[in-house]
Amino acid sequence: MDGIEQLRTAYLERIANAQSADALELVRVAALGKKGEISLKMRELGRMTPEERQTAGPALNALKDEIDAALKARRAALEDAALEARLAGEWLDVTLPARPRPRGTVHPVSQVMDELTAIFADMGFSVAEGPQIESDWHNFDALNIPPEHPARQEHDTFFMHRAAGDNRPPHVLRTHTSPVQIRAMQAQGAPLRVIAPGRVYRMDMDQTHTPMFHQVEGLAVGRDISMANLKWTLEEFCRAFFEVEAVELRFRASHFPFTEPSAEVDIRCSWEGGQLRIGEGDDWMEILGSGMVHPRVLEAGGIDPEAWQGFAFGMGIDRIAMLKYGIPDLRAFFESDLRWLRHYGFAALDTPDLAGGLSR
Ligand code: DAH
Repeated sequence: MDGIEQLRTAYLERIANAQSADALELVRVAALGKKGEISLKMRELGRMTPEERQTAGPALNALKDEIDAALKARRAALEDAALEARLAGEWLDVTLPARPRPRGTVHPVSQVMDELTAIFADMGFSVAEGPQIESDWHNFDALNIPPEHPARQEHDTFFMHRAAGDNRPPHVLRTHTSPVQIRAMQAQGAPLRVIAPGRVYRMDMDQTHTPMFHQVEGLAVGRDISMANLKWTLEEFCRAFFEVEAVELRFRASHFPFTEPSAEVDIRCSWEGGQLRIGEGDDWMEILGSGMVHPRVLEAGGIDPEAWQGFAFGMGIDRIAMLKYGIPDLRAFFESDLRWLRHYGFAALDTPDLAGGLSR
């Protein structure tokens, strides 16, 4: 039969040259589709004499099988090539060094929290925590600040929303770390020694105030704790924290609802040439509030004020960080400026401890 060899050569070549699955499909339809050249030839078999058919039949069938097989092989090769191309495109060199990222440092506030935790841990204080969204009761009432108390106004409190119709007092963003005193007493009972560093919030914003800032609370409850213990503890703390042997503190009578008696504490310093020096000079700088825990506060914490007494103090962490590390503007603390952090920040792996030196 004529033309079989030509068909064979032509289609094998077109199959070999097809560069995509779509192109290959067109070749298949042209050869083996309903109106394909080979299909049409097979239809001609019916019009042949039996002798002709005897040679042409097997030859056409063989051609059809060969083209079929060539199509399959080409399709598989194209699929392999496509997969290879995809794999090559998605290839990652895992041995490439990582792209250098901006390197972070430990924020001075975190550093100071670590430092004071190390110092107070050495004196037997553990770290206590409480929620930043605090109940009105913990933040005020339990600390002997009833609803009409003027101290409530001084706190510039942020209030949370209550659902309409819910008349309970709204929760607040805690205005100080003092509510952690209540939570620690309730959780641990007496005796106890805790510090509670953390975030606090007040509606206030200028060069020395930010709406969020940090405090550390201290609380020691025992059978016969006195102001003398408070004084020694704070002096030890300041000596270790400011890394100055000759610190001098001044206790000024003051008033806080949650302590009786209460004292504000100033530290001796000098400001010569804009340089702050702790422990020398004729200036005094206020660094904290403190006192003997009010009996009502012990009671609110579930501790019998007839059997136990304690001292407490509260200190601004941002402020003592500024003092120790010579940072002039409080607002820079919260601007997340990497250049500032590189200048004032600390190496991540240098955790402060008393033996190794606090602020290497
Ligand atoms: N809670 C006070 C404040 O935020 C600070 C304070 C004063 C805490 C005296 C105390 C304390 O524990 O005894 O201003």
